[in-house]
Amino acid sequence: MRGRILIVDDEKDMLALLKRITSEETDYEVVTEVDSVKALELFKANQFDLVITDLKMPKMDGITLLEAVKKINPDVSVIILTAYATIETAVEAIRKGAYDYVTKPFKRERILVTIAKVMQWQKMVRENLSLRQALAQKDGSPLLLGSTPVMKQLLERIRQVAPTMATVLITGASGTGKELVARATHQYSLRSSKKFITVNCTAIPEQVIESELFGHVKGAFTGAWKDKRGLVEEAHEGTLFLDEIGDLSVNMQTKLLRLLQEGEYKPVGSLVTKKADIRFIAATNHNLKADINDKHFREDLYYRLNVIHIDLPSLKERKQDIPLLAHHFLKKYAETNGKEVRKLSPEATQALLSREYPGNVRELENIIERGVIFCTSGTLQVKDLHLDTEGELPYPELKEDIARLSFKDAKDKMISLFHNQYIVSLLRESGGNISKAADMAGIQRQYLHRLMKEAGIDAEQFKQKPE
Ligand SMILES: Nc1ncnc2c1ncn2[C@@H]1O[C@H](COP(=O)(O)OP(=O)(O)OP(=O)(O)O)[C@@H](O)[C@H]1O
Ligand SMILES: [Mg+2]
Repeated sequence: MRGRILIVDDEKDMLALLKRITSEETDYEVVTEVDSVKALELFKANQFDLVITDLKMPKMDGITLLEAVKKINPDVSVIILTAYATIETAVEAIRKGAYDYVTKPFKRERILVTIAKVMQWQKMVRENLSLRQALAQKDGSPLLLGSTPVMKQLLERIRQVAPTMATVLITGASGTGKELVARATHQYSLRSSKKFITVNCTAIPEQVIESELFGHVKGAFTGAWKDKRGLVEEAHEGTLFLDEIGDLSVNMQTKLLRLLQEGEYKPVGSLVTKKADIRFIAATNHNLKADINDKHFREDLYYRLNVIHIDLPSLKERKQDIPLLAHHFLKKYAETNGKEVRKLSPEATQALLSREYPGNVRELENIIERGVIFCTSGTLQVKDLHLDTEGELPYPELKEDIARLSFKDAKDKMISLFHNQYIVSLLRESGGNISKAADMAGIQRQYLHRLMKEAGIDAEQFKQKPE
């Protein structure tokens, strides 16, 4: 694909000259514009790889244009044209992200060499990016699995939006992989060497969250005995993941909006405004539209966050991914538990395919983890999955009661019920023969005797009575 250059200069002759040089000597498609405000509109509406702009222009100067285009697409390269007298400003432009500057009047070669350097640099960035993407797959970092069309589309979308500055809103039911997607987005971005910081908006009480996010200065409130950096500062140049954003109070939403809009915030108790360079990703399982209607969520914040929307499908909507996910978790938990479980029996796969997953991928993961723990062969069987007894206590008679007991009482009660049931089954099997029962259980006869006494069980009742 051919790259595109946008050239902006208020002098028509200069524009014509630049257009001639660039169209003749480079492979770029060239667009020119004398009016810098219109140029920005053009930039918003089209994809450009390079902007060449004059510094001094009426309406909007080159620095402002540079900042505006960089905000829209940080990957765009900008070359500044400047008269000798304004070199200082040109240097400032470099600090603000311009690739290079060229002083006027310039030689044809000078501008062409600069463009060639930009092209080379862009190629390097692209290669670096794909290298990073390849690494992200290798070093065990987030592995987002899915081979269904809906997941393939989603992965493609993540790869596309990851390298941009665009804010991403991830929605989806519990356990669908929202956090994993957020991590993958960071991993595939140019910020991947910087931090990925998670703020769990549910877990932090409202009074604490502001200082947690923005930090505080010494003496800001009782207990603030020294300055503290907030998570926003921690995430500088990296990604800030606002998890469960739907749970944030309206008051905090307002402060967050300022951070998103202006890139500015104030630590609690401080008069100094700080700047943040952060990529924002937010996630929620709320229906934010409904929250807006109920006035629980600010509409303007919603639009700020919702630049890119990624909605995760429930596992039910992508059942064909279940075998793939199940094998992945099987491998993972076999490894962590040091077990040689390698396969799922066809019946187990079928059982997994034919159930509902209100807890989505996390629920599937938990089932497999438990299965691996119970599995005694190399193949995970249906019985290992314990699908029908899921969530049930082994002793139904305890069900109602258990939450009202202390841990110790609950455990004692559970154990005495276990002793009871176990001894009864043992004695039934051995026909009331205590020595045989103790043998079967692999315990001492005396010990079994004591347990029987404690449980008030008499061996007599299990003895076969002659007819
Ligand atoms: N596509 C996937 N491939 C592999 N593992 C996945 C995938 N989706 C989710 N998981 C795994 O499922 C578990 C739950 O995912 P995650 O924590 O990202 O979900 P969530 O949507 O944030 O859940 P919650 O709403 O409960 O916070 C994690 O262990 C994650 O690694
Ligand atoms: Mg989550």
